Amino acid sequence: MVKNENAFTTVSYNKGVLTLLDQTKLPIEEAYIDFKTVEGVARAIETMVVRGAPAIGVTAAYGIALAAHRGEDIGESHERLSRTRPTAVNLFWALDRMKSVWSQGATLSCIEKEAHDIYKEDVESCRKIGEYGAEFIDDGATILTHCNAGALATSEYGTALSVIRAAHNQGKKIKVFANETRPLLQGARLTAWELMKDGIDVTVVPDSALAHLLSKDLIDCAVVGSDRIAANGDVANKIGTRSVACLLHLHGRPLYVAAPWSTIDMSLENGAMIPIEERISKEITHIGETQVVPTGVKVFNAAFDITPVKWVTRIITELGSTGMDIQRDLLKQLLGKGNKK
Ligand code: MRU
Repeated sequence: MVKNENAFTTVSYNKGVLTLLDQTKLPIEEAYIDFKTVEGVARAIETMVVRGAPAIGVTAAYGIALAAHRGEDIGESHERLSRTRPTAVNLFWALDRMKSVWSQGATLSCIEKEAHDIYKEDVESCRKIGEYGAEFIDDGATILTHCNAGALATSEYGTALSVIRAAHNQGKKIKVFANETRPLLQGARLTAWELMKDGIDVTVVPDSALAHLLSKDLIDCAVVGSDRIAANGDVANKIGTRSVACLLHLHGRPLYVAAPWSTIDMSLENGAMIPIEERISKEITHIGETQVVPTGVKVFNAAFDITPVKWVTRIITELGSTGMDIQRDLLKQLLGKGNKK
């Protein structure tokens, strides 16, 4: 059983009010914000008050419920929310699911129920990902993770951090290295905060330390989340994940990608087709309000990169884990999923 100790609530919704834990303030302040307009929800996704692929999807679903509750135009709300962040396919997946309900003229309670179902299914998927993934984590292992794929990025438990939590809850003595994850420091600020709350041994390292850590034999494996996985198993995740994958491959260490099926986009043949978000230059030129890059210097701020499937050891979903032939096994999982319905 995956436990999420010292619980906090990333996303919640009640009668037309969406409440988000403001992730831009963590770890200094644990502040919750109430949203009562779709524009507010869209801005919260864009400015990363809420972030992480499954959490973005759940938030967008509740955004549609909020629109229905408050009498905002649902079609326009759908369109506005779909323009917030382009890479995490969970956003479009959740909006499509909501559309299949509201476009049939469903009642408010049916629309709200669909959003709650998306939330609850995400909790259950993340729990299962932890259970399936823990078997790949050895007792005594030191695990690298990049960005934040934890309870802050999902409804509960997380994806990569669910695997880590499950291994910890099984009594395995594990240690985690959290890449700080420039420029927005999701690893340093968020992953470290979550794991520390759960009493899991975590050490924050600069993104540039990995080659050194591997050369000293200090990393056994890496577990990361994903924003979108193409049909061939190529993985989009936070910028820097490709460097992690490349270095792990070079040192013969496994890379596990943990993600729910809502992250898999079978309509895209390979990773080159995944849209990569580019964000504002201020995220690079400034740390907080302090300018660290000379005024006028050009900046490139891609938020994600693509890791080729050849550098991925396994993909762990709520339906199980893939083996060596990731593409074939994803297809098998998809077929099994279809059979269950
Ligand atoms: O830009 P972010 O913070 O939304 O990026 C998040 C990530 O890259 C996560 O690893 C990914 O969404 C998986 S979250 C379970």
